[in-house]
Amino acid sequence: MLIFWLTIFSLVANYVESAVITADPCTVISGKDWVSPAEARACMTAFPLEPQARANVIEVVSKMLPFHASENYQLQAPPPFEKIHVNLASELVRLNTTQYSSEFEFHLDMQRTMQRANDGHFTMYNYCYDRLYHTFIPLPLVFLTDESNGKRDVFIAPEAFKVASEEFKDQIEFWQNGLPGILKGNLASLSGSKVLLIDGEDPLIAVNDSANVKGVSQAFATRQNYFFASYGHDLEDWTYNMGDFAHQAYPIVDSVQLTVQRPNNTQTDVFTIPYRARANVLAKEHIKDLSSYRQKICIADENTNGADRNDTSASSQSDPDENPEIAFLHQEYEPGLELSKSPMRIQRDGIPSDLPDMDIALPEDLRPKSDPLDESHGAAQFFMLDGNKTGVLLYGSFFARGRRATRLVARRLLQGLQKLKDDGADRLIVDVTNNGGGAIRLSHWLHRILMGYSDKTYPQAGLDTTARAGPLAQIIVEQIITKDLDPRNRSRYNPARWRNAQHRPLPLNKNWLKTGPKLMINGKYDAFSERLGQEAQPFRDTLGIDPPQERLFDPKNILILSNGVCFSSCGLFSVRMAKSHGVRTVVAGGQNNIRQEYTGMIGAQVINFKDIDTEVKSAKLKNHTLAPPDFLSRSAMSVTWRLGYGVNNPNEPEEWQPHWADIAFPLTLSTVNNPEAIWKALASQYLGNNTLFRVQKP
Ligand SMILES: *[C@@H]1O[C@H](CO)[C@@H](O)[C@H](O)[C@H]1NC(C)=O
Ligand SMILES: *[C@@H]1O[C@H](CO)[C@@H](O)[C@H](O)[C@H]1NC(C)=O
Ligand SMILES: *[C@@H]1O[C@H](CO)[C@@H](O)[C@H](O)[C@H]1NC(C)=O
Ligand SMILES: *[C@@H]1O[C@H](CO)[C@@H](O)[C@H](O)[C@H]1NC(C)=O
Ligand SMILES: *[C@@H]1O[C@H](CO)[C@@H](O)[C@H](O)[C@H]1NC(C)=O
Ligand SMILES: *[C@@H]1O[C@H](CO)[C@@H](O)[C@H](O)[C@H]1NC(C)=O
Ligand SMILES: *[C@@H]1O[C@H](CO)[C@@H](O)[C@H](O)[C@H]1NC(C)=O
Ligand SMILES: *[C@@H]1O[C@H](CO)[C@@H](O)[C@H](O)[C@H]1NC(C)=O
Repeated sequence: MLIFWLTIFSLVANYVESAVITADPCTVISGKDWVSPAEARACMTAFPLEPQARANVIEVVSKMLPFHASENYQLQAPPPFEKIHVNLASELVRLNTTQYSSEFEFHLDMQRTMQRANDGHFTMYNYCYDRLYHTFIPLPLVFLTDESNGKRDVFIAPEAFKVASEEFKDQIEFWQNGLPGILKGNLASLSGSKVLLIDGEDPLIAVNDSANVKGVSQAFATRQNYFFASYGHDLEDWTYNMGDFAHQAYPIVDSVQLTVQRPNNTQTDVFTIPYRARANVLAKEHIKDLSSYRQKICIADENTNGADRNDTSASSQSDPDENPEIAFLHQEYEPGLELSKSPMRIQRDGIPSDLPDMDIALPEDLRPKSDPLDESHGAAQFFMLDGNKTGVLLYGSFFARGRRATRLVARRLLQGLQKLKDDGADRLIVDVTNNGGGAIRLSHWLHRILMGYSDKTYPQAGLDTTARAGPLAQIIVEQIITKDLDPRNRSRYNPARWRNAQHRPLPLNKNWLKTGPKLMINGKYDAFSERLGQEAQPFRDTLGIDPPQERLFDPKNILILSNGVCFSSCGLFSVRMAKSHGVRTVVAGGQNNIRQEYTGMIGAQVINFKDIDTEVKSAKLKNHTLAPPDFLSRSAMSVTWRLGYGVNNPNEPEEWQPHWADIAFPLTLSTVNNPEAIWKALASQYLGNNTLFRVQKP
């Protein structure tokens, strides 16, 4: 079933041919919550690729590439990431000339091509297509170890029916009635089944097919883990991710055949189950016919492109924050997509969404039995395990919305950790499962308070960084420093925002993009800014709070737990904890003969097209030949704006240095997606008195 590129194309193309007779395939799905993938696809592929639309996207992407710090590294990543190689410049030539049967097909090819960089900071999003129809089957999978023989196998999650019947109340009957024979109406009996075959093949083939096109993370094991269901915690509540098998971003797969062995059954069951596509809020509200779909969802709106900061008449201002001084710090995962007033939720692959139908809740009986401590706040939740020996910080996102929120999180992190200590804990599990990052400052803060004051946390508790010095970026800096175009220090390109490698302010009259190294990367000349030093201290100034002098926990007594999905700010935090202090990292789940990695995407800072466009417009350079044009479609794009230098090799980016987890923790039917059960097992196996403390090898 999954997802061979060519099959998708021919499938889409065939559909378009057969749909010619239908007058308007979008009227068929108008107002419906649930449709078949084929119905959604017919509407989404009904619009041809117009030459002007293609030219616009190709020009934006190609003119954004010089802002992407990893472009030349990704031509051929060094070991152990040598499978990552994509030449985007030449791929753009291909995308510019290939025949596509629809704009959707072009978008998919563009997005999948960019995903070959396996870099979640390097993304392309189009509201016209991405997650317009979330496509589900009610059978999330998990990867478990059979306790009887130690073998790892794919299972239908034991909680599958509970999750699906709760989340898909209005659709579960459809699936129930579609099952054959004794399974009809008996969907619940499939929960916990062992999956023997997917579409007649070893399930691991489907897992690999998905991992090979997923993008997001350099770590292959982590891309495999995305196939499976997992838990998380966003700014509000526990979440449940169904995994890429059961929840797809596009309606391109119609059904899947599974061969399973149900619990306590000796015979096998073979059945085919259809995917169903659920309209998101945009589709639900705006798709009346093809024309309303195009006009209301697909055309650039006031949030798509940037604006000159000094143009008070412009309806759109790039910095969404009330305080521009801090806005840039948590722009990680803030790609300018403010769609509604509701709080933004950050998906685990970094794509922000405020569409309410994105959230699926972790079932009550899988949540910790004990209440979180009162100090808990947002994505930071504190728990105490039995006996007050081991505390837990569950930290699902480094994101905080705005300056006040960031300061409050910093305070609560300290108060919660101190409370765990005061109540007797001398061991700590930091659970960052599905933490896609957020505020860079908070990652420095958490590292600094856990580990105390030392030359490893002061003055630099993060990583030194460098920004790519592309030709237009250099001219932006030139404009700012020679024409005083940024008197309020709002531009990321203003030297007033940064410190040098000695952590002293950059001179205001020098072009900091011209004082850095000229490099040869994979045979291409490249240029980066001079080395930038720390950006978060003194914390009194940046977060309104001073850290205590002493460390809170002994690094021997800390475990950092995730499913590998710990990216960006979360990656910065974990890398410093693991490599500078020897804190052990744990990845739960996954295949045991594939090495697990505790982070697979660090960057240091992402920037989106809208913010680059604001920089260009504010520097009065929109007419420059190197400047990307405005997007015509309701699209968004992001690139890696800065790279962090490594801990073990401080002269090369941390991005391409190894991040092997110390412990690959197997999951079972009784621990999977049950965070408290996992924490307890880890505490007794790895934080007990007799545990050998292993210092991570570089
Ligand atoms: C794409 O094609 C157009 C028209 O042929 C051409 O002007 C443009 O330079 C091409 N862009 C790239 C990146 O190849
Ligand atoms: C999945 O990919 C991994 C890594 O390339 C490989 O070692 C493994 O054999 C693959 N499994 C299957 C079933 O193809
Ligand atoms: C399978 O059998 C065991 C032992 O009899 C029982 O404890 C368990 O609940 C059964 N599982 C299911 C899903 O029926
Ligand atoms: C754990 O700490 C709490 C809060 O201080 C206290 O009420 C409780 O009695 C302690 N439990 C144990 C087993 O020490
Ligand atoms: C910004 O706008 C103000 C008021 O229109 C003007 O006086 C000022 O010169 C402008 N500054 C820049 C840097 O363009
Ligand atoms: C901008 O930064 C410079 C250099 O740090 C400083 O002197 C100036 O006061 C800042 N301007 C504002 C408006 O904060
Ligand atoms: C770009 O050039 C056109 C034509 O010369 C001019 O009207 C426009 O104001 C310029 N725009 C900017 C942002 O400089
Ligand atoms: C660890 O050792 C201490 C001191 O010997 C003892 O009080 C404590 O109960 C032990 N804890 C565990 C989990 O074995």
